[in-house]
Amino acid sequence: MNAFSTTIERLRVTPGTVGVIGSGAMGSGIAQVAAAAGHHVLLIDLDEAALDRSATALKKVMDRLVEKGRMTADEADALQGRVVRSTSMAALAPCDLVIEAIVERLDVKQSVFAEVESVVGPDAVLATNTSSLSVTAIARALEAPERMVGLHFFNPAPLMPLVEVIPALQTEPGLDAACFELMARWGKSPALAKDTPGFIVNRVARPFYGEALRMVEEGIADMATVDEAMRSVGFRMGPFELMDFIGNDVNYAVTESVFAAMYFDPRYRPSLVQKRHAEAHWLGRKTGRGYYDYREGAVRPAPVADPKLHQLIQDRILAMLINEAFDAMHMNICSEADVETAMTRGVNYPKGLVAWGRERGLAQTIADLDALSNRYGEDRYRCCPLLREAAAQEA
Ligand code: NAI
Repeated sequence: MNAFSTTIERLRVTPGTVGVIGSGAMGSGIAQVAAAAGHHVLLIDLDEAALDRSATALKKVMDRLVEKGRMTADEADALQGRVVRSTSMAALAPCDLVIEAIVERLDVKQSVFAEVESVVGPDAVLATNTSSLSVTAIARALEAPERMVGLHFFNPAPLMPLVEVIPALQTEPGLDAACFELMARWGKSPALAKDTPGFIVNRVARPFYGEALRMVEEGIADMATVDEAMRSVGFRMGPFELMDFIGNDVNYAVTESVFAAMYFDPRYRPSLVQKRHAEAHWLGRKTGRGYYDYREGAVRPAPVADPKLHQLIQDRILAMLINEAFDAMHMNICSEADVETAMTRGVNYPKGLVAWGRERGLAQTIADLDALSNRYGEDRYRCCPLLREAAAQEA
């Protein structure tokens, strides 16, 4: 009974062994986090060169931490000594917990998990770092699907505190809570999320991009002005700068996948503006050109200094974000505490969206949404019933 939860509870107090499959950006970061928490880590990748790159990257990070005085050289050596790399799945045999961070394909993840399950002990817990697939569908490939859970880290995993903990339909009751506690013990800020498209962050954050793109598409404002308006209310980057940072290919793919997975709810409709940028291979910083030009000597367009326009941009994006946060609670995807943690600790929002909504006045958000709904007549701008109820209680 509760064999898998017990495994995780034991990991909280004993070093134990954690396996990580995939030594790319995410797997390498997760391996570092687990090793920093004192676990022995087995890092697996099919590609020997990827394992070498991961070892070099970890050494570089450790050297920098020692240089900055955040760690002693001995601690850095010990942490690196706890990470063992291999190209063989069989090496995962002693693991209590295995976290998968390989290519984002359901068939590949399912076959890798089936193989892992044949190697590990009967009480080992298996976790996926998927950002867009159903944890439930991945779990189906297992003989004991109740051992599967989603542990969704954010990039870069050692620096971003949020981990979304996602029980699949089949997950053993209590395993999600045990994982939540383990992530807290690793120094992370966990948030519990239902297994639904985009979980919390990749669902609730959609309007930050979507409304920004829509306003530009309609000619209400230009990109630099939208970015400036959102930075001035505390976001570290405006929507267009952030999309250029993430990559327009990656951001567009997430939007398209959430849109399809949500049965084409117009709230999540992707933008042709972004699609064209992706098609032009104007992917952002990584290709030297995105919404902005990052090439040598390029000059950034100046934002329009119009306070009224800034306010309109802020009101529209914030109203849509706050509505989305209430909708996530309304659909039982997460609690209020968890949506606040997710957006402040996973994507660095300056405030939790529910708190922000209350600060502005929920009635104001409803008025903004209703005005958009009246103007456009689109289902995209419908107000969440929970937001109306919360506002009525506030009044
Ligand atoms: P990546 O492409 O940097 O690394 C994937 C690694 O997995 C590669 O080194 C590859 O050789 C290895 N791999 C592929 N198939 C394998 C197999 N069958 N067995 C063993 N190793 C295999 O990918 P990244 O960005 O690290 O993403 C990994 C996972 O994490 C994906 O599911 C992704 O959706 C998810 N994720 C990514 C985030 C990001 O910002 N990059 C954020 C959160 C989740």
